[in-house]
Amino acid sequence: MVSVIFCGFGGSQDKRVFAKTGDVLLRVAQSNGILIPSDCKDGMCASCAVRVEDIATDEVLASTTEDYSSKGQAVYMDDKELETLVSMGAISKKEAEIAQQFNRPTPVRLACQCAIKDTSILVKPFN
Ligand code: FES
Repeated sequence: MVSVIFCGFGGSQDKRVFAKTGDVLLRVAQSNGILIPSDCKDGMCASCAVRVEDIATDEVLASTTEDYSSKGQAVYMDDKELETLVSMGAISKKEAEIAQQFNRPTPVRLACQCAIKDTSILVKPFN
């Protein structure tokens, strides 16, 4: 289980919940009462865009011998999600290329396309 912290959604929606690796972020939000707009649930409409940040664990912070960036997990992002994020202006084409080339997540994700990894995350509204 990893922590998913929702912040900036307002009132009782700002909370820490727990999710399993592989859970879809939008479903985690919905099942915990966090309202993220979701029109298509297919990576096309961009209504579910959110900002996602990895949260460093105590273990990572305690590490003094390894570069923090090497702790990042490979994250495959589907072309459809990247194209939608570029077309809505959330990321640049260059950022999309880097995400594809290095399997790195972009700071803005589509909640309906974002599978939870082994790292706890902080989720904020896109706007
Ligand atoms: S609900 Fe449409 S892109 Fe996620």
